[in-house]
Amino acid sequence: MKILGICCSPRKEKTTYYALKTSLTAIPDAYGQVNTHLIDLSEKEINGCKACGACMKKLKCSQDDDFNALVPILSDPEVGGIIVATPVYMGSMSSQCKAFLDRCVMFRRNGFLFRDKVGGVITVGGVRNGGQSATIQHIHAVMLVQDMILVGDGQPGAHFGGTMWSGHPDGIERDEVGMATVQSLGKRVAEVALTVNR
Ligand SMILES: Cc1cc2nc3c(=O)[nH]c(=O)nc-3n(C[C@H](O)[C@H](O)[C@H](O)COP(=O)(O)O)c2cc1C
Repeated sequence: MKILGICCSPRKEKTTYYALKTSLTAIPDAYGQVNTHLIDLSEKEINGCKACGACMKKLKCSQDDDFNALVPILSDPEVGGIIVATPVYMGSMSSQCKAFLDRCVMFRRNGFLFRDKVGGVITVGGVRNGGQSATIQHIHAVMLVQDMILVGDGQPGAHFGGTMWSGHPDGIERDEVGMATVQSLGKRVAEVALTVNR
């Protein structure tokens, strides 16, 4: 069993990466049998979907960028859950995140390969209430269209997912409330993925 984390910031190893890494690290600490794998989109060139329709026939995109190399990782049957992490941009997800999620339409078109995978979302905003929850819900909509199973950050908080504030004057790592949400989101994704795949 594997949980994938997708980091959708254009900035390499900054606050969104930190939040996602914190979430993924919490998983093997709680569930030793679960592996994690982080895909960092800041290192990739992934264009928006051109709606050419090529992926209606096969699990391959017509575009010659970095997406096709991710297809075997994303369609690996060992993957039980996917955590999408994005910075909040103008009250929603980054354009890198939207491009990636749109390109994932190929998994829907080729047998709903994300069906029953557990989905969780992490959002990082520069201000405390900068649209973190709304952005999570935008990504939840995509996950529902993929027939995934959604989870939030679980009890005791049990809200929408991992929400972090990167503008904390002492650094994102001092956002203790946010840190707790990303850690419990990771554990919740793994817990439900293990239950689904029992
Ligand atoms: C184009 C742009 C739009 C942004 N819009 C928002 C916003 O609506 N709400 C918010 O809280 N932060 C906003 N921010 C701040 C980022 O979400 C914040 O700095 C985040 O921590 C960046 O993640 P990173 O360090 O992984 O790049 C915006 C930043 C940029 C560049």
